Amino acid sequence: MLEGYWYVAAQSHRVKFGSPTAAVLLERPLVLVRDESGTVHALEDHCAHRGVPLSAGWQEGDSIRCRYHGWRYNFSGACVEVPVLGKGSSAAAKSPCVQSFRVQEQDGWVWVYASHERFPKPSTPPPKFPAPSVPSRVSLLRMSLPVKARMDLAVDNFIDPAHVPYVHHGLFRQRHVPREKEKEFTRLPEGFRTVSNNVHLPNTIVFRVLNPRLTPARTTIDFLMPGIHVETFEVGTRWGAIMVVVTPIAERAARLDFTMGWNFLHWAFPLVWLARIIAQKALKQDRAIVELQELGHRHSTAMSLSLDSDTMAVWYRRLQKYHADQLAGAPNLTHPVPERTTLRWIT
Ligand code: FES
Ligand SMILES: [Fe+2]
Repeated sequence: MLEGYWYVAAQSHRVKFGSPTAAVLLERPLVLVRDESGTVHALEDHCAHRGVPLSAGWQEGDSIRCRYHGWRYNFSGACVEVPVLGKGSSAAAKSPCVQSFRVQEQDGWVWVYASHERFPKPSTPPPKFPAPSVPSRVSLLRMSLPVKARMDLAVDNFIDPAHVPYVHHGLFRQRHVPREKEKEFTRLPEGFRTVSNNVHLPNTIVFRVLNPRLTPARTTIDFLMPGIHVETFEVGTRWGAIMVVVTPIAERAARLDFTMGWNFLHWAFPLVWLARIIAQKALKQDRAIVELQELGHRHSTAMSLSLDSDTMAVWYRRLQKYHADQLAGAPNLTHPVPERTTLRWIT
């Protein structure tokens, strides 16, 4: 996991007052706790005494108590009570702390900042789910899906246009109706973007729901480090967006934290149901292929990334190196994504 970034730790609704919740970010266990004022805090889920997970303990107001010997920690991670020392002892002076993390809730997700000595504080808030250009009511749908594969392979999948007719045939594309694409990409501070006007939407159920007459749309696709893919579609006043955050859980395990939003047909309950089914189906299709790729990578991690449609995977790796160099304090770094690039493929 690259430090110096925000990561999704959990869906907000999972973290309830009085119920410490366990979460994991790249093998680093966290406990999430909601205080009496509703603010969520994150601590290392490992009691400083003998290592029992604090998430197995219980919340006492604005503190959490370990279930083994009752050490109690405030939400800055300082130990404020050691029962075996008796009342009046200065527990904080004698006892170590557990690490605490910066937390921000946004769009129904709990984001945790993985700090680094060079970047102890975040320079920006966590990425925000997009909003329609004309303010309007938005329905939101969220889901999380575990993937038994390393984070990078899952990230590659969401910035790869070439898999869509194969992995998502019938959903987002018709394999037998190939279309030539030419996209101009521009650089973002830690990522890249492509905007397309007059996109002819494929004749599939997903796009029929968005736009029954399939009139041309405007789409914007952003990739943001460390693994965030955001797409927006606009057709007239209809607007829809998705955000996929790939969260590292272990060396070979990740999670897809998915948000979908739209500004039309709020009254149509079946649309929510349909959107959930379609999103789940697409995410499971992606998960299946990424898990297969992970099996392949146990044999060898060699890849050929030489086509235009592979360029984003190359940029992703360069952006990782760029960020790692920033953390290391390397001088004179230049952004690894060209300011403007035109890429072509058939999907
Ligand atoms: S292990 Fe937590 S109090 Fe002893
Ligand atoms: Fe996909």
